[in-house]
Amino acid sequence: MMPNATKETVLEQLVATAIRAPSGDNTQPWHFVLDRGRNRIAVYVDEAKDRSPMNAGQHMAAIACGAAVENMLRMAGDRGWEARLEARSDAALAVISLEHAGEDGDANGKAEETIASRVTNRRLYDGRPTSPELLARLKSETPVLENVSTHWIDGPERLLQLASVMGRADGLIYSEKPRRRAILSHIRFDAACDAEVEDGLSVSSLEASAAELIAIRTMFRGPNWLFKLSGAPHLLGLRACKLVKSASGLCMVVAPEAPRTPYMDLLVGRAMQRAWLSLHASGLAVQPMMSLVVLESLLNQGDPELMGSHEDEISRALCTEFRALIPEVGNGRPAFLMRFGFAPPPSGRTGRRLLSAVTTVVSS
Ligand SMILES: Cc1cc2nc3c(=O)[nH]c(=O)nc-3n(C[C@H](O)[C@H](O)[C@H](O)COP(=O)(O)O)c2cc1C
Repeated sequence: MMPNATKETVLEQLVATAIRAPSGDNTQPWHFVLDRGRNRIAVYVDEAKDRSPMNAGQHMAAIACGAAVENMLRMAGDRGWEARLEARSDAALAVISLEHAGEDGDANGKAEETIASRVTNRRLYDGRPTSPELLARLKSETPVLENVSTHWIDGPERLLQLASVMGRADGLIYSEKPRRRAILSHIRFDAACDAEVEDGLSVSSLEASAAELIAIRTMFRGPNWLFKLSGAPHLLGLRACKLVKSASGLCMVVAPEAPRTPYMDLLVGRAMQRAWLSLHASGLAVQPMMSLVVLESLLNQGDPELMGSHEDEISRALCTEFRALIPEVGNGRPAFLMRFGFAPPPSGRTGRRLLSAVTTVVSS
């Protein structure tokens, strides 16, 4: 049995590690219920935290919760605690139960250090290729997780082809005002540029030029016709294209086409976080680039903003083009996409809400 003296601190320390996970626009859409009597942590998606169209179906939120779960499982392993993950069909997404796995634990702190320093880096990367040895290590550290697989895409030709599609998707994702509004509402123009904001995105973490920031603040508010007339979608697309071209490679998490359950999203989040932590521990910079994944998801769900519109047709064509470039997907679906490469540290990073704001403690 776990000694009482350490019970509280272990559960709370695990959640402190969980909340360092990435989440769409740093919305932190999670809630944790700590049961001290049973040494369990129940993980819930907090649906109110992200109502943006990009999170339709709460898929992105469940992916973020999956990353938080992966953080806890890693830290528990590092501390010498045996942690068991249980999928749930009630309101909780998952429950982690802890059992004692060693008298004093054998923490070396490596997992915690990597989890705490992991960050999104939106800079241009330097285009250096990764060595075959490094790629082989990344592959070996990211085996299939239940039915969810992780794929590593590299080589200048493939990156060039994918950069073009991913760039156009970035331009397209902002073609509808509600989607532009959602991103704008998460950028913390109200705080100092380099502040580690408790939620949302600090301005410096965007790595945008002064002109780009002015364009975002003004153009994102305007009507669709003005946004398109200004050439903003094209410029956004070019920027994303450049970002992909500057990368050493792309990492893609593939999930089965069905079932599209919250637990499947959780597995995607766990696989993504495994890959991100491996990349980070190897000194590589990472940025999720989710426009195509989100577009596909919106199309599948019949997004009312898209249905029957010209954008709907363009989005479908783009997704078909994308699929043709990624044979790794097979009968599955691309569920997470991120670029990686070599770059200086980002100009800014985000903070997190206080632990007390995302936890409830019960004693059963
Ligand atoms: C589901 C999901 C989708 C994301 N999509 C993007 C994206 O499309 N572009 C991007 O730059 N960052 C994306 N991110 C990264 C988040 O913005 C980032 O994790 C968050 O702001 C917290 O910052 P941190 O990763 O530096 O801790 C995504 C993260 C998650 C978990």
